[in-house]
Amino acid sequence: MPTPQRFLGDDPMPAIGLGTWRLAGDSGAGVVNDALDLGYRHLDTAQMYGNEAAVGAGMASSNVVRHEIFLTTKIDDHHHHPTDFDRSLDESLVRLGTDYVDLLLIHWPVEWDIMVDTLRSLAAAKADGRARHVGVSNFEPDQVDFALDRAPIEVNQIEYHPLLGQDALVEQARDRGLLITAYCPIARNEVAQDPACVQVAQRIGMTPAQVALGWLLAQDHVAAIPQTSNQGRLVENLAAGTLKLRAEDIEAINATQKDLRIVSPPKSPWRSR
Ligand SMILES: NC(=O)c1ccc[n+]([C@@H]2O[C@H](COP(=O)([O-])OP(=O)(O)OC[C@H]3O[C@@H](n4cnc5c(N)ncnc54)[C@H](OP(=O)(O)O)[C@@H]3O)[C@@H](O)[C@H]2O)c1
Repeated sequence: MPTPQRFLGDDPMPAIGLGTWRLAGDSGAGVVNDALDLGYRHLDTAQMYGNEAAVGAGMASSNVVRHEIFLTTKIDDHHHHPTDFDRSLDESLVRLGTDYVDLLLIHWPVEWDIMVDTLRSLAAAKADGRARHVGVSNFEPDQVDFALDRAPIEVNQIEYHPLLGQDALVEQARDRGLLITAYCPIARNEVAQDPACVQVAQRIGMTPAQVALGWLLAQDHVAAIPQTSNQGRLVENLAAGTLKLRAEDIEAINATQKDLRIVSPPKSPWRSR
């Protein structure tokens, strides 16, 4: 079954991608290669993960051609100065073995005054073709508004799963025409402890991880990037793309407690103007 798509303009972005944090070296490249073999066409990496070369090697050794892959990377916190931004993006492209990424994100917000330059650099990277699309990650609603005023951002990548409520960001994205990419989409499998996810999973003969992914993808402007290095779970997660949950199952998961934040901001960098 084909993976459902989200769209950035006319460009498809597969709704299930492979998160690659912790996938490194030859074994990481092997997982990327396996994932592409199994049908993944969306890969998520970051300068911060130190694994762009492994992701590049996995793509290079695969039979899937570059233009069929939706590739995301993210600018590291230390690369916001315009010179660093440009140099680091060029270095990322070399490591990834490509001359463009499909989506370039600012990994974390920093101070307002620095962010003005960063967003200018981001817009320039889109204009010169090194990034087909641009966006942000871990931005709060006021930060997204600030970014939208300055760069053609199309995505906010945030922690989002059945155990964490993100209503303001998800509604903002819908209202402003952005896509949400959900990271930690299965809450590092904490969803296997959640009674609502477990109950739905048992009823339909799927796993709680698949139910979590199905719940996210029931929202038509949300994509998810689960990470696994296990062949069986690569298949399991990709297969969740076609899961259609009943309205009452979605309601049951909506009602579950939503206060589990797995990734905390490294610091609180956003100073009010
Ligand atoms: N923008 C950001 O700041 C940010 C922050 C964090 C993450 N991310 C991105 O989001 C991706 C995913 O997030 P994450 O890796 O933190 O969390 P996650 O995808 O929710 O969970 C990954 C963990 O769950 C296990 N797992 C995967 N599929 C499973 C399944 N079907 N059943 C049971 N266990 C399963 C994996 O172990 P096995 O390998 O053993 O299967 C791994 O330990 C990252 O790789 C990264 O690309 C972005």
